[in-house]
Formats: sequence, C-alpha cells, structure tokens
Amino acid sequence: MSRIVHVIGTGTIGEPLIGLLCHLKDQLGIDEVTFNKRTPLYTDRSKVRTLLERGALLSTAEETMPGFEKLGMRPSFTTRDAIERSSVVIDCTPSGSGLANKEEYFSSANDVKGFIAQGSEFGFGKMYARGINDDALVPGLDRYLHVVSCNTHNLAAIIKTMALGNGEMPDNLVSADFVCMRRANDVSQDAGFSPSPQVCKHKDERFGTHHARDAYHLFQTQNLDYPRLFSSAVKLNSQYMHILRFRIEVEEPTSTKQILERVRVNDRLALTYKKSANQVFSFGRDHGFFGRILNQTVIPHETLSVVNGTSITGFCFTPQDGNSLLSSVASSCWLLDPDGYEDRLQALKPWFFEEV
Ligand SMILES: NC(=O)c1ccc[n+]([C@@H]2O[C@H](COP(=O)([O-])OP(=O)(O)OC[C@H]3O[C@@H](n4cnc5c(N)ncnc54)[C@H](OP(=O)(O)O)[C@@H]3O)[C@@H](O)[C@H]2O)c1
Repeated sequence: MSRIVHVIGTGTIGEPLIGLLCHLKDQLGIDEVTFNKRTPLYTDRSKVRTLLERGALLSTAEETMPGFEKLGMRPSFTTRDAIERSSVVIDCTPSGSGLANKEEYFSSANDVKGFIAQGSEFGFGKMYARGINDDALVPGLDRYLHVVSCNTHNLAAIIKTMALGNGEMPDNLVSADFVCMRRANDVSQDAGFSPSPQVCKHKDERFGTHHARDAYHLFQTQNLDYPRLFSSAVKLNSQYMHILRFRIEVEEPTSTKQILERVRVNDRLALTYKKSANQVFSFGRDHGFFGRILNQTVIPHETLSVVNGTSITGFCFTPQDGNSLLSSVASSCWLLDPDGYEDRLQALKPWFFEEV
C-alpha cells in the first residue's frame, strides 16, 4: 500500500510543510505528497505551481476545480477523495477548521491511519510535541493527534529540560510562570499586524492563556500533573520570532551551570549569545531549511539566573514555526511506522543547532 501524506492548507504552516515532505520524501519513507487548497487565487498561483513542480499533487473541492483549472493549476483529486486515499492527513487550517474537517471528512475516512491538526484545534486529539511526550503515543489507538502551538512547544521544552532534568526528575517542578511575547504576525502574512505592544486577556481562569493550559494537558498525556503553570501573552509590533520570559520554581537546589548542562545534552535545544529576535531569525534564514531551524527553543544563556538555588529565570526565543513543523513530520512518520520513525527522523538532523 502506498504511503501517502496529505496536507490541508497552504498557509504559514502548510506551505513549508508540503515543501519539507516533498524534499525529504524518500528518507522519511513517504511515497506521495498531496495537498488541498481551498481558494483559487492569482496571488497564490506561484506557490501552488512550485509545490506541483516539487512533486506534490493538488486537491480541492469539486466546485472550485474549474476555478483552479481556469488559472492554469490542475487539481488531481477532490478534497474528499484526497483525504480518503491517504495514509496520513495533516490539517494545517486555523480557527476551528481542523475540528470541522474532523467532523465532515475525517471521522468517516476509515482507511486512513491517522490525522494530525495544529495548535488552534484544542480538543482534536491527543496532544503531541516531539521530544516531550513521544512515549505517550499508543500505536493503533491514537489516530487523532494535536500538535501543540509553537509557544507551547517552547514552554514545555523549557520545563522538561530545566525543571524535570530531561524527564529524569518528574517530581521536581513546583510552579512555572511564563510571559509569551508574541510577534504580531508572520513575515508571510499581511493581516493582523499591531502598531504597538498589545496585552492579551487571561481568558483561562486557571492557566491564564492557552499556552500554559496546553502544556498542562500535554504533560497529562504522560500522567504527569503540574497544576501550577501560568502564562500571559503580549503581542509585539514585530514579525520576527516569539520570545518567552520564564520563572520556574523547583524542589531540588540547582545552579546556572547545572541547568546549562541539562540544555547541552538535549539536541533539540539551542544556546546563543545573540540577544535580539532579528539576529536569531536571520540565522534561521541563512542556515535553516527554507529559513527554518527545527530546534524547540533558542536560549540566550547569558540571561539565565538562578536565585536561592530553586528559582530559575530567563528568556528564550521560539524559532518561528520550526517546532510545529518538526512535530508534524514526527507524528506523520510515527503514524506510518511507529517502530522505525526515530530512524527516519534523523533526516532532519542538519536543521538542529547546538549554537545559534
Ligand atoms: N503561523 C504560525 O507561525 C503557526 C505556528 C504554529 C502553529 N500554527 C497553527 O497552524 C495552524 C494554521 O495556521 P497558519 O498560520 O498556517 O494559518 P494561515 O497562514 O492563515 O493558513 C491557513 C490555510 O488554511 C486554509 N484554510 C482556511 N480555512 C480552511 C477550511 N475551512 N478548509 C480548508 N482550508 C482552509 C487556507 O486556504 P486558502 O488560502 O485556500 O483559503 C490557508 O491556506 C493553526 O492551527 C495555527 O494555530 C501556526
């Protein structure tokens, strides 16, 4: 049976993901990459043509097929057929569309091994972040996976490495508080820019914003209970990278040196002397895969402070959307081959950096 990976949506996450899957198809054990685009647009034609040239096949709804053909883009499948013939479907649509697609298309596509949705789709399935809860995935049982948002990846990676000793000290975390300083929009987006810093509501009574809430649920998949997580968010007038400021309280006294050792042994975390988001972003543009580095987080280690041995404070950069791309590829490979996916993922190694 062919191993077909289908991506729905060609936006900020979908477009680079389709490119990445096409580029590394053979190493990742994929036979065919297909993608769905909803709207035929002249402005998006160049992107669709490039993806077709890289070997991906296009699907769209029956009623939009003539629109794509009129603009010189040939769809190969209808939206439903493309989903039903796939091995794995990665939904990269925003704001509840993934949940709606689950209802309309995925729930009846019984031959598909599994479905993956992105950060905004809370409740879609088991939460997943590469390197955080791989051991919580159950082959044959977990068909719906929810790749957590880029900042939730970062926050969870900081907790797991610094407080939980890369998983070896699960009882060491007392509490963690985060301020997520978010870029206003992505360099690929026109809408949603902020002219000045803008604070966000604490919509979640218990966790503040969705970032800490999602991290709580992510750790719950491993039966780890960390009720004292809290996050706040502020949108900055920048398009480069999110930055987190963290304060973590732990049981076991530690030191900056020890924390840095925990970071150094985890190849998904990077250290940097750089202090600005544009410097880190620019490194990604020059050395990443089409501008993306895949590290979970980049830590400017000179900002790290440990007070009284048990209070760890610092800053870290969220590498644009690289960690969501990593977990999307990792979960696809896991669904295709739960025993061999770790080996397959070694193909992504060139885009992890110890130092940025
Ligand atoms: N942006 C980031 O840096 C980032 C990072 C991590 C996670 N995420 C998550 O990734 C997901 C996607 O975000 P994004 O920033 O990539 O969004 P985006 O740039 O707005 O792109 C959304 C894409 O989805 C398509 N689409 C929208 N509604 C659809 C529907 N009902 N059915 C089919 N296609 C639909 C659009 O297609 P058309 O152009 O055809 O309309 C567009 O290609 C969200 O869950 C978000 O939370 C985003």
